[in-house]
Amino acid sequence: MVGNGVRLEVAGPIVFFGYDWDDNMTIQWFPGHMNKARRRMVETLGRIDLVAEIVDARIPLASRNPMLAELTDEKPRLVLLNKSDLADPKVTKEWITYFRDELGLSALAVDAMDPKSVKKIPGVCKALFDKYLKQTGRSFHRARFRILIAGIPNVGKSSLINRLANKKIARTGDRPAVTTTEQWVKIDKAMELLDTPGILWPKFEGDSVGEYLAATGAIRDTVFDLAAISEFAIGILNERYPQGFRERFRLAQELSNPMDILEAIGKKRGCLGSGGVVDVEKACGLFLRELRSGKLGRITLERIPSLDDSCAVE
Ligand code: G4P
Repeated sequence: MVGNGVRLEVAGPIVFFGYDWDDNMTIQWFPGHMNKARRRMVETLGRIDLVAEIVDARIPLASRNPMLAELTDEKPRLVLLNKSDLADPKVTKEWITYFRDELGLSALAVDAMDPKSVKKIPGVCKALFDKYLKQTGRSFHRARFRILIAGIPNVGKSSLINRLANKKIARTGDRPAVTTTEQWVKIDKAMELLDTPGILWPKFEGDSVGEYLAATGAIRDTVFDLAAISEFAIGILNERYPQGFRERFRLAQELSNPMDILEAIGKKRGCLGSGGVVDVEKACGLFLRELRSGKLGRITLERIPSLDDSCAVE
């Protein structure tokens, strides 16, 4: 454990990762875990032909991990912007263009909860794999090519695998001590899917990545300051999506300071402590729950980097 941070670890059959918050709310890594994670991912990737990289459509770069790009080098890769039902549809389209034009990656917006949306994935994977074979001149002899669904915790990997495989799979991250056997699930006559996801750790590098991950619920509330994350998210809403959240909480026009807004939300929603004083932590919890579940509207928190920005991952 580093500093006074809370240790958060998730272990699964594919990857083990761990990190700490230090006193400055930054992340400390355990290099041993990262090496182990890398080794396991390399082993898994050796058996697959195409990687479907799942990101959260509300924070498409912040929810990626650069290690995947590095390890998959030449393999065809499809970026799936999942939870697109919660993201701003116009901005999602811009992100897809960004992935294609700036990072050279095919990307598709999906909603793992919607069968119609998930149905598009196999066709796009097949087209991508065919294009890859044509471009590289490689031959392929197995009956089906193999897909791995990979991404950081909470982006919707299990939900997507369940939907694609049409069955319930084990939740790897929840069962640290259990090693499950690898199983391939037929999707159609051309492709099969590994029934356990490739779990990566969030990268926590670059501007506001930790804040984005916390605001969307990708990391647990126990490891960050709820008020700081709520203030961060309110700053974005104030600037880009003021209408939906102001209407929902019936906020007075003149309120703009995030702490004043949280106070007002607490008062309106009865988040009160002893003596009728607003319980800020409760108000933050309520605000973040509503933000994450889409009650404040379809919101994309992360901005597309400008061309001279260096936070692109590839
Ligand atoms: P993981 O395997 O990558 O860790 O993610 P998982 O599928 O467990 O999904 C994490 C949470 O995100 C789940 O909610 C899941 O229902 C939700 N989710 C996944 N994909 C989508 C999507 O496209 N749209 C929306 N709106 N939600 C999505 P949970 O509250 O943790 O669990 P539960 O409510 O499903 O029990």
